[in-house]
Amino acid sequence: MTIFNVLGIDTSCDDTAVAVVADGRHIRSSLVLSQQALHAEHGGVVPEVASRRHLETIRPAVTRALDEAGLTLDDIDLVAATVGPGLAGSLMVGYNFGRALALGRGLPFAPVNHLEGHIYSAWLIPPDREGEDPPPPAPALPLLVLIVSGGHTELVLMTDHGAYQRLGGTRDDAAGEAFDKVGRLLGLPYPGGPSVQRAAAALPEGAEAATLPRAWMRGSYDFSFSGLKTAVLHLTRDTGEPLDEARIDAIAAGFQDSVADVLATKTVAAAREYGARGVALCGGVAANGAVRERLRRLLPAELPLHVPPPALCTDNGAMIAAAGYYRRVEAVSPAASGLIQPNLALPV
Ligand code: KG4
Ligand code: ZN
Repeated sequence: MTIFNVLGIDTSCDDTAVAVVADGRHIRSSLVLSQQALHAEHGGVVPEVASRRHLETIRPAVTRALDEAGLTLDDIDLVAATVGPGLAGSLMVGYNFGRALALGRGLPFAPVNHLEGHIYSAWLIPPDREGEDPPPPAPALPLLVLIVSGGHTELVLMTDHGAYQRLGGTRDDAAGEAFDKVGRLLGLPYPGGPSVQRAAAALPEGAEAATLPRAWMRGSYDFSFSGLKTAVLHLTRDTGEPLDEARIDAIAAGFQDSVADVLATKTVAAAREYGARGVALCGGVAANGAVRERLRRLLPAELPLHVPPPALCTDNGAMIAAAGYYRRVEAVSPAASGLIQPNLALPV
């Protein structure tokens, strides 16, 4: 049986991510070179700095990903790279490196939508389940997908490969953005998502989480997180005193609870209404334990939940390779593959 190997590259934001995936599901290697330390002192990603670092790391990252897979460029059948959405200066580095590589090797090239990449992370076999026979089942369609990342919150019905119906999304902040802003309000280290989760987990058993509102946006599958963020802001200013650790943990737990509750409740409602055969939870915020647990608990037993291990929820090259594999009919000549698209949306 011939194996189809895809080299996947993502430089949409601040991580240089390269992976090799076999037959769309089997991760041969996946490398994420984090720039977190570089941006931490600024409390957010500095685009110029990110782009310059990608330039330094992309070539060694590709070499290492191939080495760790035990493969050479001769074994690669397709190069896939993120075309958008993302930061222009960052996208350009991975996208053009991928194109040049494909051009030089005479390989087809797949420009991948980063959001579709997140969706296809649900197809990847978790490394600790690799080798199982039969392999874990791939998601069945129609699939209800919740994408929750730093830049996006989208509730989507995937009816076929490449066919999406948008059911709702955020009207203001993305879920990850809300985590990051709340992290900053609470004085927690960047990035906010993992820090807020850690603080919430530190709340002692039996101690009460802060009570925070839920924006249900009834009658729609839309979300809103700006009111919640403002409520957190008010709590941080309540006493006029600096917050002590117990209070920070209580607010973090209350915030996380509110986000998890709204995300999970609306996702389950949409899955029922549209007769989905399963649910996929994708994007950086899908790494959050409370969000995962709440969704798992609310979902009826007959609906399988596909949620990648945390390392495959946040940006990675394997999801881009998987998307490239499943959408490979749309691969193009690297010479004709055009420009990056920083504002690309999901094709609905
Ligand atoms: O998908 P991703 O890696 O990049 C984008 O495409 O945006 O998502 C990054 C976002 C950030 O906002 C980060 O704070 C959030 O995902 N995040 C988390 C967790 N890990 C990452 N949010 C909540 N809990 C986490 N454990
Ligand atoms: Zn992402």
